[in-house]
This record gives sequence, C-alpha cells and structure tokens, in this order.
Amino acid sequence: MDLFSEIEEPEREELKALRRELEEANYQYYVLNQPTLSDRDFDFKMHRLQDLEAMFPDMFDPKSPTQHVGSDLGKKGFEQVKHKYPMLSLANSYSREEIEDWVRKLPSNAEIVCELKYDGLSISLWYENGTLVRALTRGDGQQGDDVIANIKTIPSIPRHVVGTPSSFEMRGEVLLPWERFEALNREREEQEEPLFANPRNAASGTLKLQDPKEVARRGLDAYLYYMLGEDLPGTTHYERLQTAKQWGFHISDAIKVCHSVDEVMAYIAYWDMERKNLPVATDGIVLKVNNLAQQEELGYTAKTPRWAIAYKFPAEKQLTLLKEITYQVGRTGVVTPVANLEPVQLSGTIVQRATLHNEDFIKSLDIRPGDRVWVEKGGEIIPKIVGRADRNDEMSATSSLNDGMMYSFPDVCPECGAKLVRVEGEAAWRCPNEAGCPPQIKGKIEHFVSRKAMNIDGLGEETIDLFYQNGLLRNIADIYDLKLEDIAAQERLGEKSAQNMLAGIEASKNVPWARVLFALGIRMVGETTAKKIARVYNTIDSLQWATTEQLCAIEDVGPQIAENIVAYFNNIRNLEILERLHQAGLQFESEAAEGPQSDKLAGMSIVISGTFAHHSRDEYKALIEAHGGKNVGSVSKKTSFILAGDNMGPEKRKKAESLGIKLMTEDEFLEMIK
Ligand code: IVH
Repeated sequence: MDLFSEIEEPEREELKALRRELEEANYQYYVLNQPTLSDRDFDFKMHRLQDLEAMFPDMFDPKSPTQHVGSDLGKKGFEQVKHKYPMLSLANSYSREEIEDWVRKLPSNAEIVCELKYDGLSISLWYENGTLVRALTRGDGQQGDDVIANIKTIPSIPRHVVGTPSSFEMRGEVLLPWERFEALNREREEQEEPLFANPRNAASGTLKLQDPKEVARRGLDAYLYYMLGEDLPGTTHYERLQTAKQWGFHISDAIKVCHSVDEVMAYIAYWDMERKNLPVATDGIVLKVNNLAQQEELGYTAKTPRWAIAYKFPAEKQLTLLKEITYQVGRTGVVTPVANLEPVQLSGTIVQRATLHNEDFIKSLDIRPGDRVWVEKGGEIIPKIVGRADRNDEMSATSSLNDGMMYSFPDVCPECGAKLVRVEGEAAWRCPNEAGCPPQIKGKIEHFVSRKAMNIDGLGEETIDLFYQNGLLRNIADIYDLKLEDIAAQERLGEKSAQNMLAGIEASKNVPWARVLFALGIRMVGETTAKKIARVYNTIDSLQWATTEQLCAIEDVGPQIAENIVAYFNNIRNLEILERLHQAGLQFESEAAEGPQSDKLAGMSIVISGTFAHHSRDEYKALIEAHGGKNVGSVSKKTSFILAGDNMGPEKRKKAESLGIKLMTEDEFLEMIK
C-alpha cells in the first residue's frame, strides 16, 4: 500500500459510514415518521458525502443516498404504482450566497418564480378525462403507494374537473393544518399515545392509515404547485399554475415572479415573518425558473431538477438563561428533566419551560444550571433545549449559579423519594413506586376517568387531587366506593355535583370491555391497541392467562407491549384492584362474546344522530345490535325511534318531526335496555 492510499483510508471509511447513516436517517424519516437528524444536519452530512464521492470516483455506487431520494415505501396495504415522471427532490440552500451561486448557472434573462415551501409530504394526482384516478406518494421516486381513498377525503382536492386536457398530473403537498395537528396531539396525549413531533409527521402518518374515515376526521389539506403532462397550455410555470387555479385546484396566492436576487431576498424576508400567520407549516421557499423551455434546457441531476432550488428558513431558536433543572414524573413513572428558563419570546409565545429529554442528553452537552442554552420550538409543540452557549462567551451567565460541578441525575424520585431505576437500553429513569408515588397514582386515576377511557364526568384533575389529599382516592377501584356524603362534604362540592359524579360513575359500568382495558393504563396499551387485544381476548380471564408469544400474535402487539401486559397480571396489587372493579360491576367481557344480550329492541329500526356523552356512536350501534335491533342510516316511515344526542342534524330533526318519529335521549335509551 502506498503512502497516499493510507492517508485516504479514513476518508473512505467516513464515506461508507455516511452512506449508512444517511440511509438509516431516510428510513427513520420517510417510513417510520420519526426523524433522527435535523434537516440541517442531514443536509450537511449529505454535502460532505457528495464531496467525498467526488474525491473517490472509484467508489461510485448507484445505491448511494446521494443518487436517489429517500423512500416512504414499506407500509402494507397500498398498491405500488410506477410514476410516469420520476418524483424528484430539491437541492437545499441556506444563504444568499448559495442562491447567487445557483442563479449564476441560469440563462441571464431567466425569470424566477418564488413559492412557499410547504412542509408536508408530496403527492402526485392523476386526472383522466376530468376524473381523479390515482394519487401516489413519492415512494422511492420511481414508484409510490396509491393512497387515493385517503386523498379523496381532502375537501380541497377536486375529484372532478372540467375544461382540462384529457390526461395530466398535478403535484403538491399534503398537510395537516396547525390547528388540526394540535387537536390530534391533545387527543393522543390524553390516550398516552406517542405524540407526532410536527405536522409533517402527522400528515404522513395520517395519509398511510388504512382507515379513510379516520383520515377524514383528522382534516388534511393540500396545496398544489406543479403541473405535468403532454400538450398542456402555457409556456411558463406561473401561467400553468394560474390555469390550474381556474380549473379549481388549490393554488397558493403567495407566488411571485422575480427578476433579481434582491427581489428574491425581499420575498424571503417577508415570508419568514408572515408565515407565522399561515394555517399550515412552511419550512422555506422554492425558487423555480419560470420559462418551461429554459427548464427543459437546464434539465436534471439524478435526484433534483437544475431549474429549481429550495431555500430553508433558519429554525427559530433563542438563547436564554437556564435557571434550574426540575423533574417531572409521569403516570408511568418516567422522570423527565425540565429546564426552567428565563422567559423568552419564541414563535409568538413566551417560553419558560422546555424539555431536556433525558440524562444522556444533558451529559452529552454538559448542561448545568447557570448556562445560557438554546431553546427551539420549530414544528414541535413542546419546546426543547437544543444546545448550550460557550461558557467563555461574555453573554454567559454568572458563575454563582453554575458551580462548575458535573451534572448528575437524581438517584431518588423527586416526588416520593423511591430509588430510581434505569432499564438497560432505555434512556429514561423511572420511579418504580407505582403504588405510592403521588403523580403516578393521580395520573393513573386521571387516565382511568378520561373521556376515551371510562368517561366519568365531574372527576377532573383538581377533584382527583383533592380526593387524593383527603384520602378518599388511592387507586382506581376506590372510585366505586365513593359515597354521596363523603363527596358532598368536600370543599367546593355540593350535593348536586356529588349526585352528578355518582351518576357518571354508575354509567361507567356500561363502558365496554375494550375501553375498560385501555382505562387500566397498562404501559403502552393505547386506545387502538386495547381494541385490537379485546377483539382477540374477549374476556379478562382469557387475557390474564395469555403468554407473551400468544399476545405477540395480535396485530400491533410487539414483545414490549406483551411483556407489559404479562407483568401487569403478575402483580398481586393489580389483581386485587381488578377483583374490586369486577365486584363493582365493570364490563370485563365483550358484548359480542356473550351473543345477543336481550331481544328488547327486536324488530326495531333505529337511527343514531348527534354526539353522545356516555358511549361513542360505534358503541351504541353495537348495543342496538346486541339487543336485537337494527341500526339504519336514514330516517323513514319505518324508523322506530331516533337515538338523539347533542347537535343532531337539522335535516334529520325536521324529517323526524314531519313523520312523527320519537327522539330518545341516551339516558332514556340506556334505561330501556338496562
Ligand atoms: S416543486 C421537481 N414546489 O419539497 C421539483 N416542491 O424538498 C418538484 N415542496 O419533494 C417540487 N413546497 O414535496 C415544489 N412549492 C413547492 C414545494 C415543494 C414543498 C416539497 C416537495 C418536494 C420537497 C423537496
């Protein structure tokens, strides 16, 4: 081996390592929807890999991440269809200089169209004879998943268009608006399901669901930004988008034709501020050569067009003082370090607390109270610490707070004093004192009574806290021992609210088995998983004796969840609580497991309308069937009665009145089938 190749060796190794790392990052981002690298880090690593590949042409590999776009293929249940035109990515830039470099390579008279860069996932829509016939994800750029059933739930995407060529393609971005994203995460938080990190991940997870009804409920939107096909009208990109708008497509108004880099920079400066008022997430702008003939002339690299480039907005970050690190204990005992900050303004809100993730994160950045730290909100809902300022920096904090000691994670629970444990392979420290640690006890009760679980009205966070303080509630089974006089004797609670609470507790005894299972709060058993388990194990007795292998056979149940279930039933305290809940009369079996419960509704056709407090519509449907009745969709002469909740549709109400059909409240209905 000669001297030069020895010097080259570490760089060749680096090249190989970067390929592996970027391939893995693509998989995490596109398939699992759990990004591991920030976009910026990803881009820097990609640039480095490109440089190294240019240094070592003998190591060219068509499979390298520099040669293909990341792939979102890998989910079952969708037909994979080849793209007529490959779906490429865009080169990124972060500064005026990089934009100038790009502009220099264009024809001198090139007009540049500036558009917002929407931060969702790209979609290709095919229209044949005016009808939407296919909707493909980017996939690996060559072929994508056909998600048309889900796309048809998006109101702003037309299913039919008139006056268009017989065949053409529209490309755009599918997005989950901020408001919908926040509502979805609130729901998931309540159910202890993992939160989506940002609207992009939420949109991508949603579009890959197998349940168009759920997709419709979540409320996706889309913006379109590119028309392709043969013999299409217009000679510029701008003209085509305006035509598409006339055909009824959702095209942004924030499009501008620019003639100089100064104009482009002004557009960037304007939208970097103004984008905070948009209903959807944007992460930059896209610059495109306007003239289509010039676009064709410029052509493509393996991954990106040469006629377009993205400029990424800098993520919004602020430096502020870390005053103190405190610890928050969740209902499952996980102890999360929280940064208490000197308040700062960030993306329109004041931030004074941010997550420090876990012990390893704090140690890797050597973060200590008294440091000035970077806090970022970006697309995420929970602000997080992303870095630390240099301690020699004159802006850095006084040394009185920062005592120079190395940080160490507490070894006992800040709430109950139990010794913390850290399971091998997990980043989190956990308080094992499930039965004696106040936030865990209260958290479990809060989860048990929550809307998607037992739905017990009147027992909110504050009341639970009060009852806990006064010794009335120590676990979920205690709820069913509450007495009217005990409740009414509490501060702030009169006889009336005590009665309401008891009525809610009573009604919870009808909550079906799947929701009871979810309410028990077994670690990682969310609402959907509980439903799937309850479908296979339709009695608690059968579930109690299931082995991890048997449990793993259930869809969506992996070894970790299976072990949590087995551990739950191996704990004598849990068995005692279950016994008390059983005595109280909770549903520990599926209705389906028992066959029809009665024939009280035999021969009746029942319409369900509106929203309900005690059960979901699906549960009422199951109840109707379990009692021999039939659930029908529309009101007619043959309708026996309408099970009417709040906000019943005005049309149905009018029709029922005109036909003289009775409206029944949910309480009346439950009484009837009791
Ligand atoms: S044009 C051939 N325009 O950004 C280039 N893309 O990072 C076609 N994106 O895959 C893309 N807003 O999903 C274009 N106004 C816009 C865009 C946009 C968002 C996405 C798109 C693309 C990704 C590249």
